[in-house]
Amino acid sequence: MKVHILLGPPGSGKGTQAKRLVEKFNLNHLSTGDILRDAVSKETEIGRMAKAIMASGKLVDDDTVNGLVFARLQQGFEGDVLFDGYPRTLQQAKALGEFLSTQMIGLGNVVNIAVPDGVLEARVVGRRVCSNNDCGAIYHVESKPPKQDGICDLCGSPLKHRSDDTAEAFRSRMADFNASFQPLLGFYEHQPHYRSVDGNLAPEQVFESLVQLFPESA
Ligand code: AP5
Ligand code: MG
Repeated sequence: MKVHILLGPPGSGKGTQAKRLVEKFNLNHLSTGDILRDAVSKETEIGRMAKAIMASGKLVDDDTVNGLVFARLQQGFEGDVLFDGYPRTLQQAKALGEFLSTQMIGLGNVVNIAVPDGVLEARVVGRRVCSNNDCGAIYHVESKPPKQDGICDLCGSPLKHRSDDTAEAFRSRMADFNASFQPLLGFYEHQPHYRSVDGNLAPEQVFESLVQLFPESA
């Protein structure tokens, strides 16, 4: 088992691309945003703590997120794991590195999906997601509308607007991203399987670029 990492700002397409990569390469998708949203909807202790933080676009504290990820990794996976939205601070990257070495788990691809800031807000504010957490399909009111307004093409569940997909929360998420990204990049950019792909292309083209990177080490 290895872990692969997708980096990128809010709205860069990590979730969209992760779903495709997971299907093509039979990976396990581990999105800390999805895990936390699930905890919020189930009103667990962590969910109650994280709810307002997430809605305002701030980051949940490193120890909580690391704890969730390590607990899940310790349960084991059949095959490789693809992280989406984790790690996103230098502290998380270092803690993950230590955890992987103690568990003798390898680090595979680390891929940055690079998208200019100017296009991200419209992507996020127009996003709609399937309310069925087991499906979680991702849409956009303009660039990827569902066939039937407000209904998931894949499972028929209602679509919803994430509570942090407002312009205000997006700006807060971008501020956190901009503060944490350079140290994170500094940590990963010299590792052998670090790559950056152009995420400002059609989703299919971004996927093509990612597919080129995965087979060699996945
Ligand atoms: P998280 O859920 O990880 O949100 P994020 O990183 O802000 O990323 P998004 O999910 O918004 O965007 P995405 O890159 O997945 O884009 P998507 O594919 O959906 O985290 C949410 C919150 O949880 C955080 O703010 C924080 O509070 C907490 N959290 C999570 N992880 C944490 C951590 N590690 N530490 C601390 N706190 C943590 O696409 C977006 C839209 O664009 C969609 O509408 C899609 O259709 C469209 N789109 C996608 N690709 C393209 C394309 N190529 N061209 C045009 N449109 C596109
Ligand atoms: Mg996402």
